[in-house]
Amino acid sequence: MSEKVKDSQSVLKRIELLRKKINEHNYQYHVLDNPQIADAEYDKLFRELQLLETENPKLITTDSPTQRVGAEPLKEFPEVEYEIPMLSLENAFAKDDVLAFDERIHERLNLAPEIEVEYSCEPKLDGLAISLRYEKGILTRASTRGDGTTGEVVTENIRTIKIVPLRLQGDDYPNVLEVRGEVYFPKASFEKFNAASFAKGEKTFANPRNAAAGSIRQLDPRITATRPLSLFCYGIGVVEGKKLPERHSDVLAQLKSWGLPVSKDVTVMPGIEGCLEYYAMIGAKRSALAYEIDGVVYKVNNTAEQIRLGFVSRAPRWALAHKFPAQEVKTVIENVEFQVGRTGALTPVARLKPVLVGGVTVSNATLHNMDEVNRKDIHIGDTVIVRRAGDVIPEVVSVAKAAVKGQRKTIKLPKACPICHSAIEQIEDEAIARCSAGLFCPAQRKEAIRHYASRRALDIEGCGEKIIVQLVDENLIDNPADLYALTLEQLAGLERMAEKSAQNLLDALEKSKKTTLSRFLYALGIREVGEATAKNLAKYYGDLPPLFTATEESLQEIEDVGPVVARHIVSFFSEEHNHKVIDKLLQAGVHWEKVKTSAKALPLAGQTFVLTGSLAAMSREEAKEKLENLGAKVAGSVSAKTSVVVAGAEAGSKLAKAKKLNVQVMEEEAFLALLKQPT
Ligand code: IVH
Repeated sequence: MSEKVKDSQSVLKRIELLRKKINEHNYQYHVLDNPQIADAEYDKLFRELQLLETENPKLITTDSPTQRVGAEPLKEFPEVEYEIPMLSLENAFAKDDVLAFDERIHERLNLAPEIEVEYSCEPKLDGLAISLRYEKGILTRASTRGDGTTGEVVTENIRTIKIVPLRLQGDDYPNVLEVRGEVYFPKASFEKFNAASFAKGEKTFANPRNAAAGSIRQLDPRITATRPLSLFCYGIGVVEGKKLPERHSDVLAQLKSWGLPVSKDVTVMPGIEGCLEYYAMIGAKRSALAYEIDGVVYKVNNTAEQIRLGFVSRAPRWALAHKFPAQEVKTVIENVEFQVGRTGALTPVARLKPVLVGGVTVSNATLHNMDEVNRKDIHIGDTVIVRRAGDVIPEVVSVAKAAVKGQRKTIKLPKACPICHSAIEQIEDEAIARCSAGLFCPAQRKEAIRHYASRRALDIEGCGEKIIVQLVDENLIDNPADLYALTLEQLAGLERMAEKSAQNLLDALEKSKKTTLSRFLYALGIREVGEATAKNLAKYYGDLPPLFTATEESLQEIEDVGPVVARHIVSFFSEEHNHKVIDKLLQAGVHWEKVKTSAKALPLAGQTFVLTGSLAAMSREEAKEKLENLGAKVAGSVSAKTSVVVAGAEAGSKLAKAKKLNVQVMEEEAFLALLKQPT
C-alpha cells in the first residue's frame, strides 16, 4: 500500500478524492469536450483507485467510476412501467406543416399572430430513446422506451457508457430525477466498428441506429462495454423534491450542470421563422455532425405553456419533428418478385443492382402494389429512383430512365400464388391482390406465426423467421398454438439449433404464456388491428369472450375503429378455424389478467379527472355527475395517475401539482366541449 494512506480513514478519504477527481475529469472530457489532463495522468488516477479498491473491497460502491461493467450476463430485461410515459413526436416534412404547427400553437395559447413563440430547436438524434433515473443523485435505473408506457430495464448496459454519470455533480439536484435522452453510436466509430467486425467475420449493423439499439438490447454488459456508445439528453420525466426552471432550455442547462450531456447544437429561436432558419443551418452541417440525425425538433420553450397545450394520443402538442427529406439514389431494376404477406397480400419487390443509400446498401425495394407499378410505368430493366427514409422499407419512387426497347420487360401479377399456387383474388376497387388460400398458404402461415411471436406481440425470444420457416416447412407447426406443443427433441433436431438454444426457446415459450389481453389481440393478427387498436379493444371489453359476439355497429363505438376494421374483427371471430386456434392457445396456458373496465362502453372509461377552481357554467357536483355519466372517475387529489385536471377560475395547488406532474390540464371551454360528446 502506498505510504500516504496508512490507516483506513485516510484510505477512504483518498478513494473519495480519487473518485471525485475522476468524475470531474470524465465530465470535462465527455460532457464539456474540454479535457483538463493528459490521458496518461487520467489513467494513473484510475489505476490508483482500482488498486486501492482491490486492496479494500469493502470500500467499493456501485457508483465508483471503476464499477461500470458488471460481470455476469443477464437472463432477461425486467420491465418498467412509466409514471410519465415516453412520448413520440409528430412529424412534418413540408414547410407548410411547420407553419401550421405554429398557427395551432398560437390558437391554443390565444396569442395574436404577430407574437413570436419562443422555441427550443434541437437536433433529432437517430438512436435509441432512454430514460435514466437518479435517486439522491445516484443512477438507479436506465430503461428503453418500449411502447412508451412499458420499457425494458437496461441499467447494466447503460452504466457501461462513459458519458453517462453514475452520480450527478453538485448537490442541488432533485431527490428523484428522470432524464430522457437518446443513446447513439457516433458516426466515425460506427464505420470503424463495422469494418473491424466484418474483418473478424462478426455481425455488422446496417446503420448507427441499429448498432446503438443492438448494443443496448443484448444481455451481456461486457459486450455493450466494448461499444463506443454515447448519449444526449433532451428532456425529463418524473422530478421530485425540486422545482426545475420554467424554460425547457434552462432545464437542459440545469441537466448539463449536473453532469448530463446535452448537445451543443441545441438553440433557442424566436418564432417559427427562426426555427426554419435553424433547420437550414443544421441541414447544411448535417454531414459534419458527429452523430446521425434525421431532422430537427422544435419545442415550445415555456414549460407552463407546454402543460397548457397538453398531448394528443402519444405525442405532445407543443413539439414537432421537422424531418429531412428522405435520401434518394438511382439504380437499375434487375428483376421483380412477389412476396406473400401475413394477410396474403402480394407485394411486388424490385431486386435492384445494389446501391448505397445514406450509408446503407439497398438491393431490394418495394413497389407497393400493381396499381403503383402501372401508375409509375415501371418495368424491369428501368433505371429508377430509390428512396430510403429512416427505418422504413426502401421504395421505388419513379422511373429515371426507361430501359431501351427489347430490354424493357413488363411486370406481371402472377396468376397463382408464387408460394402455394392457389388462386389470386383481387377485390374490385382495392389495389391489393391476395393469395386466396389463407392459412393454408405456407407463406401466410409463417408470417402469422412470426407475427404472433414478435416482440410487440407475445415476445417469444429466439423464435425468429429462420426457426419458423423450418418448423412450418417440416410440418411441425401449422399455427401459433402448435408452438406450445413442440418438444425439446423436435427443436434440437432443427438446423443450427443446439440443445441449449432449444431449451432457451422452450423457456421463452413458457414465459410468453403470461401476457396481456392487448398483446394477445394484437398477436392474433386480425387485419387492420395494430397495437393501438388492440389496446383500445382490450380496454373497452376487458376480456376476450365479449369480442366473439361484438357486432360491427358496437365495435365502431371504440376509439380508432371504423367500418373496415370492425368488419375485419367480426369476420375474424366468425371463422371456426380461428376459434380452434384460440382455444388451443388458452388450453396451452396462455393467460392474462382481466382488464378493468370501470364503465364499459363509455367514452371516458378508464380515465380519472380532478376538478379544481370554479366553473362558470356549472357547479362542481354537476360537473362530477356529467363526467361519471361519461364513464370517468372523479378523484379529489392529483397524482401521476390522474388523466386530466379541469381547471376553473382561481385554480390553486391542484393545478400547480398537475403542472409539476405533467398531467393534462383542461380549461373550462375545452371541458364543456368534451362533455358534449355522445354516450
Ligand atoms: S423529445 C415529449 N427531443 O425521437 C417529446 N425526442 O420520433 C419526446 N428524439 O422517441 C421526445 N431527438 O427518441 C425529443 N431532441 C429530441 C430528440 C428526440 C431524438 C427521438 C426520441 C423520440 C423520437 C420521436
